[in-house]
Amino acid sequence: MTQLTLITRSGTHDVPVELNETVVAIAKKHKVTWGHACQRGLCAQCRTQVLEGASFLNEITSEEKLRLRKAERAEGFRLGCQIMIVEQGNVKLAHRPY
Ligand code: FES
Repeated sequence: MTQLTLITRSGTHDVPVELNETVVAIAKKHKVTWGHACQRGLCAQCRTQVLEGASFLNEITSEEKLRLRKAERAEGFRLGCQIMIVEQGNVKLAHRPY
């Protein structure tokens, strides 16, 4: 079974992959704290580093292009409220707010 691994300050949480749901929504559903405020790509409280499985995710959104620097994006940073898993596969994400 494919797995989504969420790494937060409180530890590592393995949850089932859910397609076309944002990471913020999935974390909330499983009671994993994944800071967020706006859910519109503005506040960056949900800043996330993709450690594994980038190819199973949606394309970087225009909100992420506006909010995150190019250098950050090159290091795998995205926004948890924008990331969705679109294809089954193992994905590992870390919550990395500023
Ligand atoms: S919740 Fe504000 S940018 Fe994601």
